Amino acid sequence: MTVNIAILGLGTVASGLPFLLEENKEKLVRLLNDEIRIKTVLMRDEETIAEARERGFDYDFVLDLDEILADEEISIVVELMGRIEPARTFISRALKANKNVVTANKDLLAIHGRELRKLAQENQVSLYYEAAVAGGIPILRTLANSLVSDKITRILGVVNGTSNFMMSKMVGESWTYEKALSEAQRLGYAESDPTNDVDGIDAGYKLVILSEFAFGMSIENDDVQHEGIRTITPMDVEIAQQLGYVIKLVGEIVEVESGVFAEVSPTFLPQKHPLASVNGVMNAVFVESIGIGESMYYGPGAGQKPTATSVLADIVRLAKRIQDGTTGKLFNEYVRETKLASPAD
Ligand code: HSE
Repeated sequence: MTVNIAILGLGTVASGLPFLLEENKEKLVRLLNDEIRIKTVLMRDEETIAEARERGFDYDFVLDLDEILADEEISIVVELMGRIEPARTFISRALKANKNVVTANKDLLAIHGRELRKLAQENQVSLYYEAAVAGGIPILRTLANSLVSDKITRILGVVNGTSNFMMSKMVGESWTYEKALSEAQRLGYAESDPTNDVDGIDAGYKLVILSEFAFGMSIENDDVQHEGIRTITPMDVEIAQQLGYVIKLVGEIVEVESGVFAEVSPTFLPQKHPLASVNGVMNAVFVESIGIGESMYYGPGAGQKPTATSVLADIVRLAKRIQDGTTGKLFNEYVRETKLASPAD
C-alpha cells in the first residue's frame, strides 16, 4: 500500500521533496516495501496553484484543509508554511483528525511545542520536527537516540547561519556590523527586519527544542536569555583576536540543580575550540557529555536540499511507525517539563 502524504505549502523546502523521493526511491521501497507519494498539496489561492502547475508540479491541489483531513488515504501531513499562524491552527486540526504531522517550523515548536505534543499524544499520532533545528544536521535524532546512553552536561551551538555568516566576515575580514548585515541581506540570508537572526531570537528557539532532546527538559521560550551581535565593534573583534579568541553568537544550555540554564550571547571562543572554525552560514552543535566526552555535529543549517532531507527522514520514520502500528509516541520519549534556572542557580 502506498504511503500518501499531504503538504501544506509549496515553498522552497517543499519543492525539494519530489527530487529526494525520486533520488532515494529504491532504498525507500527496500525499507518500507511501499512507495511514499505526495498526493495533495494545500495552496493559498488559485493563482499559486496555476503557478505551481506551470512549474511542472502535478498534485491534487486544494484550498481547504478539510479536504486533506477527510481523506482517509492520507496518513501524514507535512507543514512547510512556516510562521505561527495559520500553521498552528492547521497542525492542531490535523492532529485532532488523527493525522501524523511533520514540520520544520522552529518558531512554532519553540512557542507552542508543549500544546502540540499534548495534542499528538491525546490523538495517538506523532509529531516530528528534525528539520526545525540546524536544518541539515540530524541533531535531534542523534541526541534522542544515539546519545540516549550518555549523560549530556552542556551544549554549545552555532545554530543561526545568518549571524554566523556576519560574525565570520566581521572576524575574518574586519567588516563592520553594518557592512556584514547589508551583505547578508543582499545574499538573502537576513530579512529586511533582521531582528530574529541578529538578536539571538532564532537561536533561542532552537535552544528550546535542543533542551528537550539533550536534557529531556521542556523549557519556555520566554526564559531563554538573549543578547545579540548588533553592538559588536571592530575593536571588540580585534581585542578578542589579540587575546587568542574568536567572537561568535553561541547558544548554551547547561543542566543545573533546579533545571537548565539557557542563553544566547556573543561569546569569546578560544581560537582552538572546534566551534571557532565553523564559518559562513554553517551550523554546529558541540556536545559535552560524560560518556563520549566532547563531540561536534556540523553541517548546513538551512537550504532547500539539506532541510528537505531532514523532513523526508521524518516522513520515512513515520511511515515505518504507521506500518508497525506504533504512532502516538513522542518524538523525544523522555521529555519532561522543567523550570528554567536563573544563572545564579
Ligand atoms: N534564519 C535562520 C538562520 C534560518 O540564519 O539560521 C534557518 O533556521
